[in-house]
Amino acid sequence: MCGIVGYIGKDNAKNIVINGLKRLEYRGYDSAGVAFIDSGKLKIYKKSGKIRNLEFELNKDLSLPHVAIGHTRWATHGEPNDINAHPHVDCTGKIAVVHNGIIENFAELRKSLESKGHKFKSQTDTEVIAHLVEEEIQEGKDLREAVLSAVAKLKGSYAAAVIYEDEPDKIVCVRKDSPLVIGIGEGENFIASDVPAFLSYTNKVIFLDDNECAVITADNVQIFDLNGHKVEKEIKEIPWSIAQAEKGGYKHFMLKEIYEQPKAIADTISGKLSIFEEKNKKILTDFSKIQIVACGTSFHAGLIGKFFIESISRIPVSVDYASEYRYRNPIIDNKTLIIAISQSGETADTLAAVRLARKEGAKVVAICNVIGSTITREADYTIYTHAGPEISVASTKAFTTQLAALFLFAVEVAKVRKVIDKETENKLLNALSEIPKKLKTFLDTENEKKLIRKIALEFYNSQDALYLGRFVNYPIALEGALKLKEISYIHAEGYPAGEMKHGPIALIDEKLPVVVIAPKDRVYEKMVSNIEEVKARKGKVIAVTNANCPEIKKLADFTIEIPATEELLYPFLTVVPLQLFAYHIADFLGYDVDQPRNLAKSVTVE
Ligand code: F6R
Repeated sequence: MCGIVGYIGKDNAKNIVINGLKRLEYRGYDSAGVAFIDSGKLKIYKKSGKIRNLEFELNKDLSLPHVAIGHTRWATHGEPNDINAHPHVDCTGKIAVVHNGIIENFAELRKSLESKGHKFKSQTDTEVIAHLVEEEIQEGKDLREAVLSAVAKLKGSYAAAVIYEDEPDKIVCVRKDSPLVIGIGEGENFIASDVPAFLSYTNKVIFLDDNECAVITADNVQIFDLNGHKVEKEIKEIPWSIAQAEKGGYKHFMLKEIYEQPKAIADTISGKLSIFEEKNKKILTDFSKIQIVACGTSFHAGLIGKFFIESISRIPVSVDYASEYRYRNPIIDNKTLIIAISQSGETADTLAAVRLARKEGAKVVAICNVIGSTITREADYTIYTHAGPEISVASTKAFTTQLAALFLFAVEVAKVRKVIDKETENKLLNALSEIPKKLKTFLDTENEKKLIRKIALEFYNSQDALYLGRFVNYPIALEGALKLKEISYIHAEGYPAGEMKHGPIALIDEKLPVVVIAPKDRVYEKMVSNIEEVKARKGKVIAVTNANCPEIKKLADFTIEIPATEELLYPFLTVVPLQLFAYHIADFLGYDVDQPRNLAKSVTVE
C-alpha cells in the first residue's frame, strides 16, 4: 500500500527520500513522487511506474534541498498516472501533501472547495487536503494550525505529511488509521510509513498514534493532539539491522525469507518457553472461547492455530477473516479472547476487528511481527514473532513464526489451565524446538532443492493447479494455492482432500497439477486414496510426504520428502516446499516475485 518518506536535516533530502522510497517498494505501488524546497522554492517531481522513472527525472535536477517528502502511490481514487501521483499541491503551488489512506468525504469537500474557486488538477482524494490547508493558511494560520484545522474536516483514514514554501524548516504530519513512524537522528529527522525506509540512518523511533500531529524540524520533534495540546511520546529502539532488510546475495527477498525460516522460528521460540509473564497470566485463564481474526496468509496460520489450541488446550476456537468478522455481528463477551494475527500489525480489517472486540469487552492477544505497530499498541498483550523484517509481499517466514507463536500459546494455556501434564508439555515443546533444525536440513538438501526447481520447470506453463490436504495440512493446501496465485498469477485452489469428490474432481485431467500434502499422520491412508482418485483421472500428482512412504512414491509423479515430526507440527515443514515451488514458477515466468501486480505488503485500507 502507499508509502510515505520524509527527511529534514543536513544532507541531500531528495536522495535520502528516494532511497527511503526504494526501501518501501515492497509495499506495492504504481507511481511515485517527491516534493522538496530548494532556495525557498517548492519543487515537485512525479512519475507513474517504477521509482527509477522518477529518479531519472530527479537526477537532472542538481539542487541540494534539506527538506523533502516523497510517496509511492497504490491507486485508489483515479488511475495511476503522473498527475494523480503524489505529492499534490494547492492553488498557490506552495503547499505539498503526501497521503496514505482514503478520504471518504473527499467528493463533498472538493465540491465545496471548487465553489470557492479552488482549481483541482488530479482525480485523487488527497488533493483536497492541499486545498484545505491553503484555505486555513489564507486565514492567517501557521502550517501546524492549518493542518490541524484541515484534518478536522476529513472523514476517513490518513497518514499525511505536508511541507510549505513559506515555512521551509519543518515537516508537519498527522495520522489516523494509517501508519506513520518518525525516525530520530542527530541534526536530522525522518518520517516513513515503515521503519526500513530510514533504518540505515537510525533505529530510534516514535510511533505516531491516531489523531496525533507531529512538527518535525532538523533538531526537534514535537507531537500534539488534534486540539493542539503537546503530547509526550516514548522513543523506542527497533532491534532490526539494515542487513536484515537487504537481499544478502539472494535473487529475491522471498527466497531469502524462505531460507531464513529456521532462524526466524528459532528466534520466535527462543527464551519463550513461557510466553506470558506472570502478571499477564490472568489473560490465559479468564476466557471460555477464542476467536481468531486475521487476513490472507495470517488467516491460514489462524486455521492451523485452531488445531493447536483445540487439541492441546481443549478450548473452542473459531477463525474468521477479519473482513467478515467485523460485519457479521459476532457474539463477543468478556469471556471471549480474541487472537489477532498480523505480520504488519497495520492491516485495516484486522485492526477494525480488534477495535470491535475490545468495544464489546473482549481481551485481545496480538500475534505480530512489527514492533510498535498499531495492532500491538491496541491489544491487551502481544506475542512478537521475531521473524525480522519481511520485505517480500508474499508472506513466508511471518507465517511459520506465527505458527510457532500459536503453538507456544496453546501449550501455555494448557499448562496454566492444567489440561496437560509436565511430560506432555515437555514432549510438545521439545518437538517444536526440533523444527528449526529439521527445516534447515530440508533446505540444505541439494536434491530436494533441485527437484522442486525441476517440478516448477515442468509445470510453470499450467493454467490451473489444485492443492489438497487434510487435518492440519488442509490450511497448508490453502496457503500453497495462495502463494502460487499471488506471485505466478496461475489460478490455484486449495481444498480439504475429502471434499474433492464433491466438486473439484471434475477439474482433474492430464494437464492439471495436483499438489497433495500427505505426511505420515492420522489421515495418511485417506490421502493415499485421494491420490489414487487423482491418478485414475490422469491428473499429475506432486506429493509432499515423508521418506518412508512407498505407497505414495509408487503413485505420485513427483515426491518431495520432508523430515518426520509430531503430526500437529507438520505444517511448519510441509509449507516450505510449496513456498519454493511457487517461487520457482514465478521466477521461471520472469515475474517480479517480491512485488506482485496489484498487491501490497501492508493493506491499510479496507
Ligand atoms: C500473502 C500475504 C497476505 C497477508 C495479508 C495479511 O502472502 O502476504 O495475504 O498475509 O495481507 O497481512 P498481515 O499479516 O500484515 O495482517
